Amino acid sequence: MRLFAISDLHLPFGADKTMDIFGPEWQNHAHRVAAAWKRVVRPEDVVLVPGDLSWGMRLTDAQPDLDFLGGLPGSIVLVRGNHDYWWQSLARVRQALPPNVFALQNDFYPLPGGLAVCGTRGWTLPGEEEADESRDCGVENGAGGCGDRTGAGEDQAAQAQDRKIYARELVRLELSLQAAVKAGRRPHFAMLHYPPTGARGQETGFTQLLERYRVKLCVYGHLHGKRRAGAVRGVVRGVEYRLVACDAVGFEPVLLWETGAADAGTSAPADARSDTTADAASS
Ligand SMILES: [Fe+2]
Ligand SMILES: [Fe+2]
Repeated sequence: MRLFAISDLHLPFGADKTMDIFGPEWQNHAHRVAAAWKRVVRPEDVVLVPGDLSWGMRLTDAQPDLDFLGGLPGSIVLVRGNHDYWWQSLARVRQALPPNVFALQNDFYPLPGGLAVCGTRGWTLPGEEEADESRDCGVENGAGGCGDRTGAGEDQAAQAQDRKIYARELVRLELSLQAAVKAGRRPHFAMLHYPPTGARGQETGFTQLLERYRVKLCVYGHLHGKRRAGAVRGVVRGVEYRLVACDAVGFEPVLLWETGAADAGTSAPADARSDTTADAASS
């Protein structure tokens, strides 16, 4: 089994929307992703897709995009992105998913060797340029990201709302991590839609949780175009971060890990995990 990731597919099959306006690299991107996916991913593999899956506003709009995933090889794990308006009721989403697709929310996805993938959507970090769910991708106006608030000096009410969502997303990430630990698994992989930290890897509520639970590799998306320059990459305080937005990985699922490999997530001793579990459970 091998673990891959690719984010921000922004699939267009259920909505009259094209990504071509975002640049020539996005032309026909869904079919190019599918071709690459079928070339590299085997049925026994797992692919993490952390958010911005579909342009669909309602679940029925997103159904063709979900069915598109159902035609791809491998098991697919989703978390919600800021553009996934179709993802409202988790129960209804899960009913609509093809058999090979799992929607992760407040729980985890098991991997061989007692490992687990945990995650949540995440949100704009305190002190950073704000975002909200009502904005379209900013690529066409040069901002290069999804969900950017465009007006200067946006209102305090919106910032307060951002802080509230940020706090809720921290709770959701910890619920996910705790669920894995309670099941006796090591949450060595995490997937967030939003970057969990800035380019310099400053401490945030998300990084604190990832470090406390000894996550080894965290993938995320959301940053496109020019915004990719602000992406955190590499190992920060023991956690490796990778931007896997599809334009950042060449529109091809990127290999993260495979069973038997002595890399991400496999080197931490089980007794260290037990210590972490005790600490985490009391927080
Ligand atoms: Fe996106
Ligand atoms: Fe996004």
